[in-house]
Amino acid sequence: MSFEKEIKRRRTFAIISHPDAGKTTMTEKLLLYGGAIQMAGSVKAKRSKKFATSDWMELEKQRGISVTSSVMKFPYKDHEMNLIDTPGHQDFSEDTYRTLTAVDSALMIIDCANGVEAQTKKLYEVCSLRKTPVLAFINKMDREGKDPFELMEEIENTLGISVTPVTWPIGMGDRFRGVYHRLDNKLLIYDKDAERSRPVPLKDLSLDSPEVVAELGEELAETLQAEIELLDGAGDTLDRDRYLRGELAPVFFGSALKTFGIEPLLEGLITLAPPPLPREAQERAVDPMESKFTGFVFKIQANMDPAHRDRVAFMRICSGKFERGMKSHIVRLGKDQRLGRPTQFMSQDRSLVDEAFAGDIVGIHDPGVFKIGDTLTQGEKLHFTGVPVFAPEHFARVTLKDPLKSKQLNKALDQLSEEGAVQVFRPINNNDQILGVVGVLQFDVVQYRIQHEYGVQVTFARLPYSAARWIFSDDEDALDEYVRAQSHLICDDQHGQKAILLDDLWRLNFLKERFPKIEYQATSEKI
Ligand code: G4P
Repeated sequence: MSFEKEIKRRRTFAIISHPDAGKTTMTEKLLLYGGAIQMAGSVKAKRSKKFATSDWMELEKQRGISVTSSVMKFPYKDHEMNLIDTPGHQDFSEDTYRTLTAVDSALMIIDCANGVEAQTKKLYEVCSLRKTPVLAFINKMDREGKDPFELMEEIENTLGISVTPVTWPIGMGDRFRGVYHRLDNKLLIYDKDAERSRPVPLKDLSLDSPEVVAELGEELAETLQAEIELLDGAGDTLDRDRYLRGELAPVFFGSALKTFGIEPLLEGLITLAPPPLPREAQERAVDPMESKFTGFVFKIQANMDPAHRDRVAFMRICSGKFERGMKSHIVRLGKDQRLGRPTQFMSQDRSLVDEAFAGDIVGIHDPGVFKIGDTLTQGEKLHFTGVPVFAPEHFARVTLKDPLKSKQLNKALDQLSEEGAVQVFRPINNNDQILGVVGVLQFDVVQYRIQHEYGVQVTFARLPYSAARWIFSDDEDALDEYVRAQSHLICDDQHGQKAILLDDLWRLNFLKERFPKIEYQATSEKI
């Protein structure tokens, strides 16, 4: 297969949803269709097995939160699908946000009874900021939920995006019979026994034809006909360009649990969702078809396999072809590094990869050299943009129980901050170490990991700050003056970037008035 074809057949997407909307179930069904797993239940079963083997993940399991955003690859009809699962719990949203920087499109799952929930909204906002195209799947149609028209309206009003249904439900709850495919003009009838859909092509048939009435019964057939007429008359038509610009969400209905409505969705992912897109770097835009390999690290995960105490850096390939054993240039360090043990993940099974292409996500062994946001190239000095570090909202001072262990503590904090698990702020006025997290539960995880992975006992004293802002100014003198005046609140972050800690965001208004030349950012990089 030609190099270009290889890249064009890739789809790299993330699932975004509120917890319990059905992300895990959907993931499993997608893998099932792709033949990556044989049996429903495998993802969950393997996930819990994996958790049981890893201590800090055990902690998260006890809390009932899935924090690993796993990366899965599966084939579907000549396409290579890269699915990045994002943790749904809002406490770990920073990791989730970064995951979204590595994809070209998103699949939003909505529970038909609950509609657009808080976490979905938050995640959608990130997609919208980045203009990521979004497909929506309204799940759990085998249960009673909101009226489909109402759901369409809710998505439009709460998320501010136009919608157009590609499939439309026939009935709901106990009376859920399947979906009508508006583009293909066919009925997909839910077949309980086959666990798959049974297509009834409607070529040359209208919805009021005797065949359709015989299939659905008079009442459902009539309702369907009326609803489709309403949709055809009113809603947005499917304009792929608008979808690709992030302005319009094609909507699918179904039930992940009953494996219903998944095929049209997968078709949508290969026909509508974009192949790997160009990426912005500070220096220039990088096209996926460029022959030279480039990529960036969007996630580092420690101790995926406790037997090896390893760290894996997840890299999104942005252009060209990656080959096992190849040397790559880490731009930040200005040095070449052989990328060890490149791994891809099928469900939760790892396998070594010989080659991978733009769009693919590869896990590489990290001997402690990578940082989130690192650009890898074949020598060119490029810096991919858009992998932000978000301002923490909770802060604590770390205190060592045994002062002789400060070296180990520093090592732990350096590594955990590189991994993105915590942010470290060092006040310019004293020797404190202040930790910042976006979600408060992360303190427990970090404390547990410092103790178990680095053997250091620490206590955390919560501090009354509620925000941090990175500070910038074109005027160096103004910045110096500001830092002097506010020195009790100014810190260096782990990269030496100056930030101010705030007890209340209100204070910013006052500071902006007094020091008009200072700019504030809620991410350490503009998205
Ligand atoms: P999540 O990853 O988004 O958190 O959701 P997950 O797939 O774990 O699904 C949450 C619950 O919703 C599960 O039930 C799951 O079986 C159920 N579910 C998912 N899709 C559908 C659907 O299409 N129809 C119906 N009726 N239920 C669905 P649970 O009882 O919490 O877990 P389990 O014991 O079934 O695993």
